[in-house]
Amino acid sequence: MSTIVFISPKGGAGKTTAALILATQLTRAVAVTIIDADPNRPIAAWASAGKAPKNLTIVSDADEENILERIEDAAKRTPMVIVDLEGTAAKIVLLAVSQADLVIVPTQGSQLDAEQASRALKVIRQQEKMSGRAVKYSVLLTRTNPAIRTRTMAHIERGLMGAGVPIFDTELHEREAFRAMFSFRRTLADLNSAEVGNLEKAMANAEAFALEVVDQLSSKRGNATAPAAAVEMA
Ligand SMILES: Nc1ncnc2c1ncn2[C@@H]1O[C@H](COP(=O)(O)OP(=O)(O)OP(=O)(O)O)[C@@H](O)[C@H]1O
Ligand SMILES: [Mg+2]
Repeated sequence: MSTIVFISPKGGAGKTTAALILATQLTRAVAVTIIDADPNRPIAAWASAGKAPKNLTIVSDADEENILERIEDAAKRTPMVIVDLEGTAAKIVLLAVSQADLVIVPTQGSQLDAEQASRALKVIRQQEKMSGRAVKYSVLLTRTNPAIRTRTMAHIERGLMGAGVPIFDTELHEREAFRAMFSFRRTLADLNSAEVGNLEKAMANAEAFALEVVDQLSSKRGNATAPAAAVEMA
């Protein structure tokens, strides 16, 4: 079983979108629980249309008090557990990170976003200190332009890599289909390509992301610790 936790103190970084993309992709192979720990319950709202895959369980009553219990229970029921948290760094983030096999830090391509991402790395480092165990984590660049690599993005990537921060090879591109999942409350596979532009490209992007997550989970290589240099970027 694996627990994957999405964190980023920056609101709108793409946590919920990436978490839902990953969860729905993984359900093609295994049963998944998604713990919607954002008090706004965006995943529960998405599932309320009744179009969620049968092997996707949504837990929507998680809070600071019960998050450890909810993750533990979910891990007993399904091989994959995904936790989506609200933006603000708080105790619940530390608690969820303490249970993670992989922490994903979604980040958009601006300097401000990158600085916020290093706040997330601080949380990982804090948790590592508290628990004495290394936490596997990786930054996920989100909402990137599939056609153009901006200078800012290249600069941010160099900064992260130079500081030894792992970054997913796969980026989640800015795609109408990823927004449409929420507006139509469907999985990518259930969207209509006549209504949603570039659906196939979005699906290929989602699949590449899920495959890379599975690959990271199975790789023995853990990050030693969140590098101090990266944390100092904040
Ligand atoms: N790859 C993407 N392509 C297109 N739109 C995206 C993408 N990722 C996120 N968005 C849009 O950006 C907005 C914020 O995304 P999302 O809700 O996933 O961020 P979040 O980090 O979960 O935010 P919060 O901190 O408020 O929980 C949403 O309107 C979403 O539809
Ligand atoms: Mg969210």
